[in-house]
Amino acid sequence: MTIAPKKHLPLLQLDNLWKRFGDGQQQVIAVSGVNLIVNEGEFVTLVGPSGCGKSTLFNMIAGLLDPDSDGAILFKGQSQRDGELLGKVSFMPQRDLLLPWRTIMDNAILALECEGVPRKEARKRAEGLFPSFGLSGFEQSYPHQLSGGMRQRVALMRTFLFERDLMLLDEPFGALDALTRALMQRWLLKLWEKHRRTVLFITHDIDEAIFLGSKVVVMSARPGTIKCVEQIDLPRPRTPDMLTSAEFIAIKKRLLEAIEEESMKSFRFTEHEEQS
Ligand SMILES: Nc1ncnc2c1ncn2[C@@H]1O[C@H](COP(=O)(O)OP(=O)(O)O)[C@@H](O)[C@H]1O
Ligand SMILES: [Mg+2]
Repeated sequence: MTIAPKKHLPLLQLDNLWKRFGDGQQQVIAVSGVNLIVNEGEFVTLVGPSGCGKSTLFNMIAGLLDPDSDGAILFKGQSQRDGELLGKVSFMPQRDLLLPWRTIMDNAILALECEGVPRKEARKRAEGLFPSFGLSGFEQSYPHQLSGGMRQRVALMRTFLFERDLMLLDEPFGALDALTRALMQRWLLKLWEKHRRTVLFITHDIDEAIFLGSKVVVMSARPGTIKCVEQIDLPRPRTPDMLTSAEFIAIKKRLLEAIEEESMKSFRFTEHEEQS
């Protein structure tokens, strides 16, 4: 007797997803007909011009915003509608949103507390993570006493503590200088290699998208849709010397061409304007 192979459902499937804001002349189509599959354990990076609907997409996947009725979000094979996704994924929004009056420890455990975990227990769970997030000794500090990079790590730690199968990170390193950013990337990859949580990661930085990603998704200019998906088969663990390898540069060239085309559209350049 042959055993039928186990069918692997994608962790997340976006099926013809739309989001329109406003009506009539004022209507903004932020997301238009997005189809995307994210498999368990993948690190998917998402790039696209500013305003193309990346954050809107994340807000829908996080359950904070309902998609229009045209399409569907399937999570573990189940169709999710209106608010059902809330709390099923961990989400780091574009801004770190740390509460200035709470200590770093109490900021880190915020999501756990909202979930009903008693503060004492939540603190205990967080304690062990401070060293690997490079935050030892800062448990009782306040956000204003930390550098930008450290605050980003606190926000990441809070997202990480809210243990869900899917992590959404919206430009988590956006505000960092190049050196800190490179350190954070390598550190995040180590963390991901250890825990293998599925990650969806928005960035403006094409090097970052390739360096981190198992696949890079390029979004088109608004109304945002998926322009292309590039599988990244660079070996793991990724090392800084890969950034200058021929393979990396070839991938970058292909992606830059796709992105360039989109950026031009979003600025509505005409040939005439470019020449003048
Ligand atoms: N709540 C909202 N109401 C109206 N328009 C919105 C809202 N949220 C986003 N938009 C618009 O949707 C488009 C996509 O925004 P966003 O998802 O933030 O883009 P990105 O993250 O790619 O820069 C933008 O034109 C933005 O102005
Ligand atoms: Mg955004």
